[in-house]
Amino acid sequence: MRQVLEEVAVRNNTDIVTARNSVRTYAKQMGFGLVDQSRIATAVSELARNIVVYAKSGKVEIAKLNEGPKKGIEVVCEDNGPGIPDIEQAMSEGFTTGGSLGMGMPGTKKLVDEMNVWSEAGKGTRVTIRKFLK
Ligand SMILES: Nc1ncnc2c1ncn2[C@@H]1O[C@H](COP(=O)(O)OP(=O)(O)OP(=O)(O)O)[C@@H](O)[C@H]1O
Ligand SMILES: [Mg+2]
Repeated sequence: MRQVLEEVAVRNNTDIVTARNSVRTYAKQMGFGLVDQSRIATAVSELARNIVVYAKSGKVEIAKLNEGPKKGIEVVCEDNGPGIPDIEQAMSEGFTTGGSLGMGMPGTKKLVDEMNVWSEAGKGTRVTIRKFLK
């Protein structure tokens, strides 16, 4: 079962904070501990920031997963921006086209249990992250 809890439109820094806080609240409700709440919130904050910086706008969808023993949170961050030409490159530490640290995507992967990146040039990017209750 997958239940959508909230959708946050992302266009600016305020929206990034909204998405971050919202995810944290749902994670807490689901029973995640403080450390995991922070991990999920930080991951979403990084992905939402990428939306604002590289795609200008997009959305963050927060959902609850209940697949038998696997219960947790799923967050889909998507945009209709320029896309990522080389996903493997984008996932490696230090790669940036924005003159930044290039740590957002590889850092996010370490904070969650599952991370899936879909992207097509000219169409957009969709990053799905999942974290399960232990
Ligand atoms: N939503 C997106 N649309 C288009 N390109 C993206 C998107 N997200 C990431 N990228 C590309 O992937 C690269 C790596 O992203 P990542 O978040 O790891 O680093 P960064 O944003 O450059 O720096 P940092 O997150 O450390 O400030 C980006 O520089 C950009 O080229
Ligand atoms: Mg980034």
